[in-house]
Amino acid sequence: MTYAFGYSATERERLLAQSLRFTPITERFLRDAGVRAGHRVLDVGAGLGDVAIIAARLVGPGGEVVAVERSAESIAFAEQRVAAHGYANVRFVCCELERFQIAGSFDAIVGRMILEFIPDPAALVAALSTVLRSGGIAAFQEPWLEAGAGFVVRLPLWSRCYALAGESLRCRGVNPDLGATLHRLLEAAGLERALTRFDVILNDSLELARWPWEVVRAMLRDAGDTHLDLTDLGDLSTLPVRLEDEVRTAGCVVPSVPLASVWARKP
Ligand SMILES: C[S@@+](CC[C@H](N)C(=O)[O-])C[C@H]1O[C@@H](n2cnc3c(N)ncnc32)[C@H](O)[C@@H]1O
Repeated sequence: MTYAFGYSATERERLLAQSLRFTPITERFLRDAGVRAGHRVLDVGAGLGDVAIIAARLVGPGGEVVAVERSAESIAFAEQRVAAHGYANVRFVCCELERFQIAGSFDAIVGRMILEFIPDPAALVAALSTVLRSGGIAAFQEPWLEAGAGFVVRLPLWSRCYALAGESLRCRGVNPDLGATLHRLLEAAGLERALTRFDVILNDSLELARWPWEVVRAMLRDAGDTHLDLTDLGDLSTLPVRLEDEVRTAGCVVPSVPLASVWARKP
């Protein structure tokens, strides 16, 4: 199986910048969901370790984080970052999530922007929840792109790139609107009282002006022909600057990837 975004240095930069934006949202979410000092937490689809680092901070030295990721290269990078933070309570496991098996039980299973890439996320959540203790928490953050479109007015180029970002992800079998139905998926796995919260960062920064095009570009680079028609975008080499100009001239804010945060408990 391949991962739609791939593992290039450019993708690593994109992921790190995105993670930085979402750190306060994820930390508040995990805290509110009930991740506490002393907990044993399973982080799935750990990437460069950002969620594992947040979880390590919340569980403290008396807790433990087991972080599962399929890319050995990403794990090597994540391990360095965890060491730089001085956390000794994070252990990475290099494995396909669909094949992951572990002894013992967890107080929480967490994941950010991972289930959207899994062909059968319901089956994965059901399998993972078998290692959740009774009363344990499943807490996932997944995008809900369609919900963010309403935040943009009178920005034709930015809106076109936003629509293309969704289209390019769907072409690769990624579900960028999983956040809308995630509660059902958790409940179908036998978890109870699923709650959804929705967060979107709004500002006029260069990063937010450019991210939809960066998603499309990543899909083109790693997927080759995605059958997207980009002719109306004009000269692609000047597109990032034109996006930035459009946002600046309009004097309005634009949204980040809109994130649905969903959590539920094992009965
Ligand atoms: C968008 S990144 C998110 C990383 C991290 N959770 C974060 O929010 O910063 C998704 C990660 O999931 C990993 N991944 C995707 N499918 C996987 C699978 N089936 N098993 C294990 N890891 C997987 C990818 O390698 C990638 O590192």
